[in-house]
Amino acid sequence: MAQHEVTQKREMWSGRSVFIMAAIGSAVGLGNIWRFPYVAYENGGGAFLIPYLIALLTAGIPLLFVDYALGHKFRGSPPLAFRRFARGSEFLGWWQVFVCFVIGVYYAVIVAWAACYTYFSITEQWGDDPEAFFLEEFLHIDSAASFGLDFVPGVTWPLLLVWVAVLGVLALGVQRGIGNANRIFVPLLVLLFGALVIRALFLDGAVEGLNAFFTPNWDALTDTGVWIAAYAQIFFSLSVAFGIMLTYSSYLKKKTNLTGSGLVVGFSNSSFEVLAGIGVFSALGFMAQAQGVQVGEVVAGGIGLAFIAFPAIVSQMPGGPIFGVLFFASLVFAGFTSMISIIQVTVSAFEDKTGLGKVPAVLIIGGASAVVSLLLFPTTTGLNTLDVVDRFANQFGIVGVAFAAIVVIAWVLRRLPELRDHLNSVSSFKVGLVWQLFVGVITPIVLGYMLISEIRDRVQEGYGGLPDSLVVTFGWGVQGAVIALAIAMSFVPWRRDVDLTYSIDDDPSPSVSVPAPPGDTHTDGTSKPGGAL
Ligand code: ALA
Repeated sequence: MAQHEVTQKREMWSGRSVFIMAAIGSAVGLGNIWRFPYVAYENGGGAFLIPYLIALLTAGIPLLFVDYALGHKFRGSPPLAFRRFARGSEFLGWWQVFVCFVIGVYYAVIVAWAACYTYFSITEQWGDDPEAFFLEEFLHIDSAASFGLDFVPGVTWPLLLVWVAVLGVLALGVQRGIGNANRIFVPLLVLLFGALVIRALFLDGAVEGLNAFFTPNWDALTDTGVWIAAYAQIFFSLSVAFGIMLTYSSYLKKKTNLTGSGLVVGFSNSSFEVLAGIGVFSALGFMAQAQGVQVGEVVAGGIGLAFIAFPAIVSQMPGGPIFGVLFFASLVFAGFTSMISIIQVTVSAFEDKTGLGKVPAVLIIGGASAVVSLLLFPTTTGLNTLDVVDRFANQFGIVGVAFAAIVVIAWVLRRLPELRDHLNSVSSFKVGLVWQLFVGVITPIVLGYMLISEIRDRVQEGYGGLPDSLVVTFGWGVQGAVIALAIAMSFVPWRRDVDLTYSIDDDPSPSVSVPAPPGDTHTDGTSKPGGAL
């Protein structure tokens, strides 16, 4: 009985709407705003929407259901859920945890930059040369050194504040911290970004920008690189297969419509992404017209788009500061809600494994992440380090762990039917053979191909012309360490009071449910009075 009591103490969302909001908050992040528009443009423009939609339907949403099924049925962070699923698969959970650790430490820096730029926008502090301002005045880039510990105070302090805010939210707990933060920031993000897109649509040149974005290049569809880009975008953007959705669904009540929630989250995320494409390209169209050049000449992606092209747009347009504040504050809110989901994976895993309380786990694990982040990135060499870590975490870390997990679940253990039955036992939208085909056949083929081509390209070409020492240490080295640590952690004994055979389907307890606050949607009739457990 003691074991059951421990299981029941797991924190919970007060209702499905909070979970959906948090899942959308996690999915909609930097990937939507600065990665998608550029990736789409580079890979066929309007035609990219076809592979993108196919990737969403054949891999993104099906894998989201796998995450939900594992997290909900086994009610644990990734290592605990995988351990309960099958004894030997625990290392997959740890692999996901360490992938999140790596992503979290650099993701925070970009949120910190965006916070600074929200402030800079008010006075257009970058002056006439946004590129020089970003690289020299703001980041103090030292292009001669490949790695150093020369800290830039203007980045270090904001980064520290971001970590304090993230860890503060996590320390408040799942419902009170994460749930409430998302209930505030997600609607705020939609409002701010919506205003930005509407303003952008009325800029001179917006139509040319949209034409550039949507004009399809059908030839792109015969290029395998375009398909890979679509699948990679979906994985990162939807936060699937690296532990986040699994962790969030472990806080759901017993009777929760899992697949219905997944469809809402998947389509909301993609809608936001297309909206971001419309906003960003309208603004780029304006800039191209102002400079008298083609849209293709001003298109940029990632860091270049956000911190160089957008400041230039802000400087050129009437009411620029307001536009700048809307854009950078949107990045902060989108990034912040994703960031808390990423770090929650690591915190909850150590909480489950060691029995540490929530606050000590946040302080120790979150604190360690903050220290690593503060040591590596707010330095004069941090930009290149970030570039390498980001590339390998996405194209190797996420893709690798997703591939391994699917192969183990679908082919080694052959237990997709069990996950299907769990999903169908609680959900309105039933899954069957088609879902099994997508998860068990299409996804591993695509992921396997992505992994092999990425490894081949990186071995042959290095990355981005950066020094080999940097690529070996922060690319291969970090990803190798992630796998080694994952295997090592799976040999560390579990705290004694955890039930390693638990499944929610066998749990007769009504206390896997908590009452919702007034106005919250409830899908579970089994709630009992009392606070969150
Ligand atoms: N899903 C998050 C993003 O798009 C990680 O940035």
